[in-house]
Amino acid sequence: MGGDECVIVVREFDPRKDLASVEEVEKRCEVGPSGKLSLFTDLLGDPICRVRHSPAFLMLVAELSSTKEIVGMIRGCIKTVTCGKKHSRNSRTNDPMEPLPVYTKVAYILGLRVSPSHRRLGIGLTLVRRMEDWFVQNGTEYSYLATENDNQASVNLFTDKCGYSKFRTPSILVNPVFAHRLPVSNRVTLIKLSPSDAESLYRRRFSTTEFFPRDIDSVLNNSLSLGTFLAVPRGCCYTQRSWPGSDKFLSAPPESWAVLSVWNCKDVFKLEVRGASRVRKTLAKTTRIVDKLLPFLRLPSIPEVFRPFGLHFLYGLGGEGPFAARLVNALCAHAHNLAKEGGCSVVATEVASGEPLKVGVPYWKRLSCDEDLWCIKRLGEDYSDGSVGDWTKSPPGVSIFVDPREF
Ligand SMILES: CC(C)(COP(=O)(O)OP(=O)(O)OC[C@H]1O[C@@H](n2cnc3c(N)ncnc32)[C@H](O)[C@@H]1OP(=O)(O)O)[C@@H](O)C(=O)NCCC(=O)NCCS
Repeated sequence: MGGDECVIVVREFDPRKDLASVEEVEKRCEVGPSGKLSLFTDLLGDPICRVRHSPAFLMLVAELSSTKEIVGMIRGCIKTVTCGKKHSRNSRTNDPMEPLPVYTKVAYILGLRVSPSHRRLGIGLTLVRRMEDWFVQNGTEYSYLATENDNQASVNLFTDKCGYSKFRTPSILVNPVFAHRLPVSNRVTLIKLSPSDAESLYRRRFSTTEFFPRDIDSVLNNSLSLGTFLAVPRGCCYTQRSWPGSDKFLSAPPESWAVLSVWNCKDVFKLEVRGASRVRKTLAKTTRIVDKLLPFLRLPSIPEVFRPFGLHFLYGLGGEGPFAARLVNALCAHAHNLAKEGGCSVVATEVASGEPLKVGVPYWKRLSCDEDLWCIKRLGEDYSDGSVGDWTKSPPGVSIFVDPREF
């Protein structure tokens, strides 16, 4: 492709020889619009860390054939997720009209990077096409990716050139981790669920939520998953000691309850905000020092984000009943304290734009992203299930399940 000086070879990433050069490209690639604060990712020496927990994954690199220099890369993974629901009279559940999930095989693209010195030469486009070839060979029906709404290069590349359409716009909610602990409401009881209990609760209540991963058990049993926590109003008959298991709980749930799980991204990658003025950095540092010295004041300090920092991701957020949002709030306070113990600077979650429980999640607007743009493309000719039809044309659900492996 390209002129004489830019013929590239696309091949699979080879950890034995590509590590240093891939890291070099990653270092030079900001994500987001230039000129403002930008976010850099440190993959802690493992370029495939953000896909390796998925059932199937691939990383490709673009190499200049003349110098063998690596100038771009892309990661992709494949898994099975919910794309809709159906009602079946043959249901094995108690209620024959209880909806059942319809699953489809999807591919997810992430970590597309082209070295700033080699942009606008068609390398990004070539990498996407080669990745899609692998998706098709593996029988995927849809391919999707998340990008920032204002990342013009990426949005144009996928929508204008590759046939993707804008699909969902969930919100990424980010809250700082303060130097003080957050109080958990004494009107709430928190119960830690075992991975198998969490699995049965998620399967029974959330498996019809779009993007719910069919292999939720491997997510919950992954060592990066730090636990699933359930919140119920204090005084209802459930406590950690008297916990009867998810099935019994769901057969007689309290009026309101909420759940979430915590994923440790800190051991996978670190982020860093660059481009901040010295004044801003000093101000942030001052708030941290004051908060550390006087934690009882509970001053909202700005965490360390101008050096590589770690985060926890909250996934599987859900609940029922009139007080569910308040219970989510208590769960988030608990998650904050876990992140503080774990040495993280922020806690993040991602929810559907219309998610009713969003009001219970504390976040700082300046650190968050109101509209994370998810684009999708249909790759397969056949549908896994005729009753759902073309998912790319379907209206969004109230909730969305954001897989922590892909955050
Ligand atoms: C996004 C990115 C991978 C594009 O790589 P690239 O090799 O420059 O892209 P291509 O040359 O293949 O461009 C293909 C098309 O994308 C669009 N595009 C690419 N860069 C663009 C830009 N800066 N502004 C507007 N459109 C752009 C154009 O439609 C372009 O076609 P054209 O050149 O014929 O107009 C690259 O800019 C990058 O690494 N950015 C930083 C990391 C990032 O944001 N990754 C995406 C996360 S999902």
